[in-house]
Amino acid sequence: MKTIFSGIQPSGTLTLGNYLGAMKNFVDLQEDQNCYFCIVDEHAITVPQDRLKLRENIRSLAALYLASGIDPQKSTLFIQSEVSAHTQLGWMLQCVSYIGELERMTQFKDKSLGGKEGVSAGLLTYPPLMASDILLYKTDIVPVGEDQKQHLELTRNLAQRFNNKYNDIFTIPEVSIPKVGARIMSLQSPDKKMSKSDENQKSYISMLDDEKKITKKIKSAVTDSEGVVKFDKENKPGVSNLLTIHSLCSGESIAELEKRYEGRGYGEFKQGVADAIIQTLKPIQEKYEALIHSDELDTILDKGAEKASITAEKMLKKAKKAMGLGRVKK
Ligand code: TYM
Repeated sequence: MKTIFSGIQPSGTLTLGNYLGAMKNFVDLQEDQNCYFCIVDEHAITVPQDRLKLRENIRSLAALYLASGIDPQKSTLFIQSEVSAHTQLGWMLQCVSYIGELERMTQFKDKSLGGKEGVSAGLLTYPPLMASDILLYKTDIVPVGEDQKQHLELTRNLAQRFNNKYNDIFTIPEVSIPKVGARIMSLQSPDKKMSKSDENQKSYISMLDDEKKITKKIKSAVTDSEGVVKFDKENKPGVSNLLTIHSLCSGESIAELEKRYEGRGYGEFKQGVADAIIQTLKPIQEKYEALIHSDELDTILDKGAEKASITAEKMLKKAKKAMGLGRVKK
């Protein structure tokens, strides 16, 4: 049995990109693996957050994990800030990281384009905290979307560096990126990834969007003037993105879909895409409504944090000893 760890930031309602690129795959993994799924709230505060909104988003993300099929009997679901070992090992790993390698992270570069004065130091030191999340649990596999690949490379480097320098305690994790859906693109600019922090709300589908909103957003998705439903990422990025979404939601292959919509216009195709998304999200939204205000949610999160803490504290102790923290006991 392998150990799986993944995390999602509670920085807004999840998008269809988060679901198809990450969360959907978590559900299958929990059947025969030892899984930890985390709500990484300490990562979310690397950019400004509204206090009340953040707390709401944390609860909402927990409910979405469960509504999507994460089963607390099979997986450990918890909030990062409720397991203090994460920031403690995170600090130690910051001391093993080099400023140069952290500055080379694309996400940091993108977010600090406007200059470094107004950017939090946390945004720079976020990858060692992510490495800590993963390394505390002897993680074998980390399922993520394409955009996290570079952070995973760094995690592996930090683990190796620590093992060589101090003591061989960390498992070197493998990254797992889905073959299809690793990068769901924006509906308005199909050269950019779909992101919950996009200012243009038409560019993403939120997992809690209702039928009307979903249909409207898909109908206004950018395509091209060819009118041919064909997968061609280079020349038809908008149509290809919609085909990927349709295929992942309905379970039909892209080839089957190309055949079905042959000779039909984009209007009919887009209606098909919207219907497939609605069919996928509707049952999740119904379960979400039942969970969001329930006491059950709190019990699950309390138990999750308790269970995660036991494992995490053991590894933290080993790491402290390896680095020479604490005192010699007489
Ligand atoms: P976050 O919160 O930005 O995204 C959560 C997951 O969703 C994936 N994802 C996408 N997949 C496909 N298409 C998209 N458009 C898309 N947008 C997002 C992400 O790749 C991710 O898997 N740093 C992480 C959170 C994190 C983490 C960890 C992940 C913290 N610690 C430890 C794994 C292990 C992040 O910001 O993800």
